[in-house]
Amino acid sequence: RIFRGPAFTPVSPTEVAVLDDHLFCVDPAGTVARVLAADDPEAVELLAHHRAAGTLTEAAPGQYFLPGFVDLHVHAPQWPQLGRALDRPLGDWLMNYTFPLEARYADPVFARQVYTQLVENLLRQGTTTAMYFATVHTQASVVLAEICADRGQRALVGKVTMDDRSSNPDFYWDADTASALDGVVEFIERVHGLGSGGLVLPVVTPRFIPSCTDRALAGLGEIAARYGVHVQSHCSESDWEHQCAFDRYGRSDAESLDGFGLLTGRSVMAHCVHLSDRDAELFARSGTAIAHCPVSNAFFADAVLPLRRRLDEGLEIGLGTDISGGFAPSVRTALREALVQSRTLDHGADPGRPAPERGTHDGHIVLEEAFWLATAGGGEALSLPIGRLAQGYAWDAQLVDTTAAGGLPLFDVRDSRDVLDAILLVSGAEHIAGVWVAGRRVIGD
Ligand code: GUN
Ligand code: FE
Repeated sequence: RIFRGPAFTPVSPTEVAVLDDHLFCVDPAGTVARVLAADDPEAVELLAHHRAAGTLTEAAPGQYFLPGFVDLHVHAPQWPQLGRALDRPLGDWLMNYTFPLEARYADPVFARQVYTQLVENLLRQGTTTAMYFATVHTQASVVLAEICADRGQRALVGKVTMDDRSSNPDFYWDADTASALDGVVEFIERVHGLGSGGLVLPVVTPRFIPSCTDRALAGLGEIAARYGVHVQSHCSESDWEHQCAFDRYGRSDAESLDGFGLLTGRSVMAHCVHLSDRDAELFARSGTAIAHCPVSNAFFADAVLPLRRRLDEGLEIGLGTDISGGFAPSVRTALREALVQSRTLDHGADPGRPAPERGTHDGHIVLEEAFWLATAGGGEALSLPIGRLAQGYAWDAQLVDTTAAGGLPLFDVRDSRDVLDAILLVSGAEHIAGVWVAGRRVIGD
């Protein structure tokens, strides 16, 4: 297939390529085989051939291709409580809202209803890849993986482990450590067997240190190494969670997770607002990525991620909506909130406090970096060839229509950068005219 149109794609954390009128040739496996300008002599022939064959998709005037968004942190079972009870402290919110809801996924019929609506919604937001926490239930977790595979969303799905009787409620936990680990192995094998051509991958998922026994954490580290699968968890999210590891192990949760073999080149840790500089070095050394969830952090973390500093350290970072710790299902909102928070941190949130001395503040990120985090940064965090419209990358793309829904306010446009500003900061799901994953159209016709 061939896709033709103008496109925006990140090429480095601080650089966006503006491709005016280009052709993207996508092979049958859904990977971009070639990118060439429409005025290239070869393009004329290719266009004629694909137009005749009906395998050409052309952007209409006002439409632009962008890479699909990568959402590194979604709690799929929390979809029914999106936006609810965010004013509660984390521990209270988990015990009184989240765990009772997650317990309901013992019923795979309920799971199918919720997960079908969630995956549809995220695809319509332009999220082509999502990294999901499911629940402790093996069957319902497989249902989520199946829905992603059938609907065509690239997904990384984890059956959650929470086997510590002292910290989990009796209505929602893995009653037994050995069977919890057996369930994880069964889940990995069933997801591997889905026959979805690698579109859906299993993830080892200890919920967070407070919910797991040492035996489970060590067992999960071994399973992750044996199967070479991704790992996800929460790390240094809130001060009480952060303190739990110090009380239990005398060291940070990042160091503790590392001790259990859970910080690997395929690990993604959510939040990480309380990382020490030593923890950050550990992340850099192991290739562990941060899922930055700015909306959720505003409610449940007790700090703001020093994003500028962590980027400058060379850490792998992408964005997460943290449904339902965050109220917004869209990576677009996370991108905007990441920008706003980094600027707030930079300029000082408290006008009564003296401005930080030059060079001592964290500094803010620029729009290019926010775009990177939402796309290619997420791809690098997952070690997958996604998040760019470039040769060798999957055709995971969204077509944004700036004329849809009454149109974006694009008067007096000076250059394409003005258009990118509006797309990233002003557009909504209603401006998405098409979404593709691995070359397959999943939204639009
Ligand atoms: N820590 C452990 N579980 C959760 C969860 O579901 N959401 C958030 N935000 N933090 C957590
Ligand atoms: Fe979370």
